[in-house]
Amino acid sequence: PIETRIENLISLMTLEEKIMQMNQWTYGKNANPNNIGEKMKEVSPTIGSLLYRSTNPEYRNQVQKKAMTESRLGIPIIFGFDAIHGYRTVFPIPLAQACSWNTDLVKESCSITAKESWLSGLDWTFSPMLDVARDARWGRVSEGYGEDTYANSAFAVAAVKGYQGKSLSDKYTIAACLKHYIGYSLSEGGRDYHYSDISNQTLWETFMPPFEAGIKAGAATVMSGFNDISGVPASANYYTLTEVLKKKWKHDGFVVSDWGSVIQLVDQGVAKDIKEATLKSFMAGVEMDMVDNAYVDFLPELVADGKVPMASIDEAVRRILRVKMKLGLFENPYVDVVPEEKRYLLPEYLKVAEELAAESMVLLKNEKQTLPITSKYKSLAIIGPMVKDSVHIMGFWEGMGRPQDVETIYEGLQKEFKKKVVLNYALGCDFDGDDKSGFADALTEANKSDAVVIFLGEKANWSGENGSRSTIALPKIQEDLVAELQKSGKPIILMLSSGRPLELIRLNEMADAIVEIWQPGTTAGSAVAGILSGRRNPSGKLSITFPQTTGQIPIYYNMRESSRPKSGHYQDIPRDALYWFGHGLSYTTYDYSPIKLSATKIRKNEKLVAEVEVTNSGNATGKETVLWFIKDPFATISRPMKELKSFEKKLIKAGEKIVYRFEIDPMKDLSYVDSFGERHLETGNFFVIVNDQKVQFELID
Ligand code: IFM
Repeated sequence: PIETRIENLISLMTLEEKIMQMNQWTYGKNANPNNIGEKMKEVSPTIGSLLYRSTNPEYRNQVQKKAMTESRLGIPIIFGFDAIHGYRTVFPIPLAQACSWNTDLVKESCSITAKESWLSGLDWTFSPMLDVARDARWGRVSEGYGEDTYANSAFAVAAVKGYQGKSLSDKYTIAACLKHYIGYSLSEGGRDYHYSDISNQTLWETFMPPFEAGIKAGAATVMSGFNDISGVPASANYYTLTEVLKKKWKHDGFVVSDWGSVIQLVDQGVAKDIKEATLKSFMAGVEMDMVDNAYVDFLPELVADGKVPMASIDEAVRRILRVKMKLGLFENPYVDVVPEEKRYLLPEYLKVAEELAAESMVLLKNEKQTLPITSKYKSLAIIGPMVKDSVHIMGFWEGMGRPQDVETIYEGLQKEFKKKVVLNYALGCDFDGDDKSGFADALTEANKSDAVVIFLGEKANWSGENGSRSTIALPKIQEDLVAELQKSGKPIILMLSSGRPLELIRLNEMADAIVEIWQPGTTAGSAVAGILSGRRNPSGKLSITFPQTTGQIPIYYNMRESSRPKSGHYQDIPRDALYWFGHGLSYTTYDYSPIKLSATKIRKNEKLVAEVEVTNSGNATGKETVLWFIKDPFATISRPMKELKSFEKKLIKAGEKIVYRFEIDPMKDLSYVDSFGERHLETGNFFVIVNDQKVQFELID
């Protein structure tokens, strides 16, 4: 019946009404000319969508009422916003979330975001971002799930299910939007908005699978990227938008352009003016125009000129109406209005936020069991610009998160250590600049204490959109502070908050222990304090590689082998990354049994089971993630050194043993995709890899 209702509605619509459905304006803080401001009279009742930056559900309902009652056909507006890692409850940035390897928690965080968003008047979030990111200079590396294709696919599914729930028409669910379709993260040199030169092989092998997984999980919408893909911009790319997304994957929702990505086709040199940009974008398969007003301005003429067929207009409207109907907006156009204390930051939300933040943190180094802070330390110096910060700790795209709701690291530590440990605070220095006047105080506090915990990091806008950096090292002043505090001779513990992997080559040498805490969000304080005290055992493993230096980029775990594997590396730095994808320590120790295979030969239509038994041989309960990789050493086209194919995180009590299992499905796990997107399964030898174990098996016909 949805399809019949859609057709009936389309048959009643004028061209102008149809085009208005494809138009998104904005509401809230921004200077865009298509911002409707707070003036109700400026809202057209036939507008298709609003980018709604507001926590006011009543205003949404009033605007919606205008659409429902003052437009000829009463078509509801869809309200969208960037709730990327939380709405008011801010969860860690997605790059961090992926380090938790906990898809259940990520899904839960997304369903909390959906609830808070829905109760604020939203139907739609521009999330998840599935741009596999291998250049940490690119600021938006913070918004995705890291360098691996399979990991991005797994978290795509978790996020879509979390936002969209069991049925999009249920209360508290919102439509997901997979972005930025496609290849945006490969912008040259990590400069945001730049050209991305992508071979079809890379497109299919690296970038497409997370989007395909998100579509299969039911994602209602997709956002087309800003980037130019090898000469055909993503927002004018018929192949990716129509051939692949709509025809091959059969996506039946709609594509929204990114902010300005239609008119930018002129800057990108593929359209002589905005009219041509509109034609190219629309005909490639972008159904909704985010804030450019290009569709409203030029589609009527393009239809009149015979350049845009009415059937294409109808198809675009059909897709938009389909999403609105699936959301149940026609029957229930309004959201519930409940008091703010029932809407946001509920204790159960904060619990999930703290858990996810703590599980995202990665213990990179822990010499001589410097951590956790046990009774061996009576006093701690807590130094650095992140200690009392409540802004940058939320990261970029903090939704409607507010600094006043953040538990700072300082507050978290005070609560955690109460009177058991004396905390001696000093700022030390700012995030950047060259003012070293705080160094002396910091050293005094360090000298008084049993260990020095230094909280360094990046400001929120050093990553995120337009947050690219030429170096991923922290500013020199922060490194100098650590060098100064080393003079105390006390153990040095570095706690790093950043939206990207950092260049740690110098800091690594100076530190006894290092924890990457990322940008953990609202519950930063208690999560950080829990990791430091050992109340929480670190279980994060890197979702992205930390290179030795910026110049080593790109470096990622599943590169292709070089023609001379032992040579060709940079001569001035070690050959390996500093910390590879998958690295992460714990306060306990895990012993892995040899990998057991159910057979050494399988046929293409059979499954092979790999098992490994993990023993928690230390004293603390912990959660261990087993990452299962496959290596295909020889095929018609070269394959990466290894590829992640499965992962599983389990709680293991001290002394306990747990079996992890990976069922290898040849077509899924041993095949490769070619540059046309076709899968091939070739017989021969393969390896299954866990940590440094590598076991061979054979695939036969
Ligand atoms: O969703 C975002 C996108 O990621 C970058 N440009 C703006 C959009 C809407 O805010």
